[in-house]
Amino acid sequence: MLKEKMEIALNDQINKELYSSYLYLSMCAYAQSLGMPGIANWLKIQAMEELTHANKFFDYVHERNGKVLLKAIDEVPTDFGSVTDMFKNVLEHEQLVTASINNLVDISIEISDHATRSMLLWFVDEQVEEEASVQEIIDQLNMVEGKGHGLFMIDKDLGSRTFVDSTQQN
Ligand code: FEO
Repeated sequence: MLKEKMEIALNDQINKELYSSYLYLSMCAYAQSLGMPGIANWLKIQAMEELTHANKFFDYVHERNGKVLLKAIDEVPTDFGSVTDMFKNVLEHEQLVTASINNLVDISIEISDHATRSMLLWFVDEQVEEEASVQEIIDQLNMVEGKGHGLFMIDKDLGSRTFVDSTQQN
């Protein structure tokens, strides 16, 4: 059985993951409006991944006999500036998510909830990967100054990303 403090924090995290999905879907729509189908594809897959994260927390709360209480998802921005600005925004958002996951780990340690701490380690690793992959895209965008033929090639490259449900992998 989950302790109340952990249950509340996990429910908040479900909301954050759903917000992340909504945010990336809005960025996907924005990328489409800029005529960047590859970047839009990358962001759509990112939005789908966030749903799998929300779902992993959702299932875990139930597994531990907790209660999931879904709250309203905040409105997301619709304009993200340049492509480089948008990916910087993605990185900043992922850094916030990382801080939030770390806070959950802190709570699990504080209340000696070893099962939750173990489940959260998957997310700790996932955040390292997420931040690294976004940083790589920002580095590439900086290399081509976010425009021209270089931007066209990055868009083409990001168009090849396919969806993998990494929550099912281990
Ligand atoms: Fe669910 Fe992008 O972290």
